[in-house]
Amino acid sequence: MDSFLIEGGVVLRGDVNISGSKNAVLPIMAATLLTAETCVIRRVPDLSDVRFMGKILESIGAEVQFEDHTLTIRAANVRGFGDYDLIRKMRGSICILGPLLARLREATVSLPGGCVIGTRPIDLHLKAIAALGAELRVAGGYVHAKAPRLDGALVFLGGRAGPTVLGTANLLMAATLADGVTVIESAACEPEIIDLADFLKAMGANIHGAGSPTITVTGVKELHGAEHEVIPDRIEAGTFAVAAAATGGSVTLRGARPDHLGAVLDKLQESGVRIERSAGALTVRGNGVLRPVDATTMPYSGFPTDMQAQLMALMCLAPGTSIITERIFESRFMHASELMRLGADIAIEGPSAIVKGGRPLSGAPVMASDLRASAALVVAGMAAGGTTQVNRVYHLDRGYEKMEEKLERLGARISRVPGE
Ligand code: EPU
Repeated sequence: MDSFLIEGGVVLRGDVNISGSKNAVLPIMAATLLTAETCVIRRVPDLSDVRFMGKILESIGAEVQFEDHTLTIRAANVRGFGDYDLIRKMRGSICILGPLLARLREATVSLPGGCVIGTRPIDLHLKAIAALGAELRVAGGYVHAKAPRLDGALVFLGGRAGPTVLGTANLLMAATLADGVTVIESAACEPEIIDLADFLKAMGANIHGAGSPTITVTGVKELHGAEHEVIPDRIEAGTFAVAAAATGGSVTLRGARPDHLGAVLDKLQESGVRIERSAGALTVRGNGVLRPVDATTMPYSGFPTDMQAQLMALMCLAPGTSIITERIFESRFMHASELMRLGADIAIEGPSAIVKGGRPLSGAPVMASDLRASAALVVAGMAAGGTTQVNRVYHLDRGYEKMEEKLERLGARISRVPGE
């Protein structure tokens, strides 16, 4: 397993191009199952999760080509039975259930497992599919869904922790080919849902209200092939913004969408970081002095759970006490103990991390436990004195395209050490 070696204490400067969004492209890839015609998706990040989703689509019969950040997918002949082991390994693959069912009226997919950030149930996905009239059976590690016809329905999709992003995506896709009107209440408002709806509309779907808590879908008889350019990755942009702030540097994020980053930029500004917006870019300037801030993760447009670990790393550098509360996933604090190996002072109390920042960090070997935890450790390693080895960076490769090369171009002393 590869690791990163980081020599800390370098100030990041320069420009970085923000790649397409991982969490937008995964459901968009699933949506190509809704038509037998060819779909072309551009600005696709070259990530292991994207390649993995491509393999899943191939395992059910789709032809997938991925070249030069462009995916060409033709799902002319698909079967409603996905490869058990492939699907089980990637949580995002649950969103093939809706489109497969809508296209074939029958689908069997394996239940995705939990992961280190929490148990990650799929009850809301199942509620959504059942509301359209599908018969569901969960047995032997599989979900079997069958529906001779799908009928539009009013579906309230809010759960214990608020709306569900991929659950909304699943229902949105299934509803495009249902008979009649589906109204999704308490829908996720994330930009990735708007991007999926834009792609579905380009395929001929009739959707109103994506990006708001109420989405209305009027079913159509069939969808056709379409071309689409994926939105920039707001979490990659946020991570580079935090890295700039943590090193007291100045980084221009080319292609970043400030309108998708409201809560993150607000927290950075509150902690003393300067943000300049210009056409097609965003410049983040740290001045070396950080103030502590409190943050609570929430569904969009609140502070994203996918930026919680990176903010925690930054707050380790801000003299004073910050309280970071995680309200979306129950055990998304695995990075805290690894940050403590670098010298951070963090106490976990229920859903909150109390960070006493300002102690100097010093390099150490640390273990990445999930994608965003890994990003936090890279940020902390760049701000720490000495050498930090971040092990198991395959987590990072799932969601950040060539992160070490992008950081190196900004001046970071970072290298990939290949594992056996
Ligand atoms: N939930 C349920 N029941 C369900 C589905 C979700 O109770 O059927 C709960 C979850 O346990 C959680 C909350 O609802 O407490 C929100 O989860 P959500 O369903 O929105 O998460 P997701 O759609 O599975 C996507 C992203 C995650 C991101 C979350 C929240 C993708 C592929 N994944 O997951 O991204 O953290 O939304 O914004 O889009 C990441 O990129 O590192 C990542 C984990």
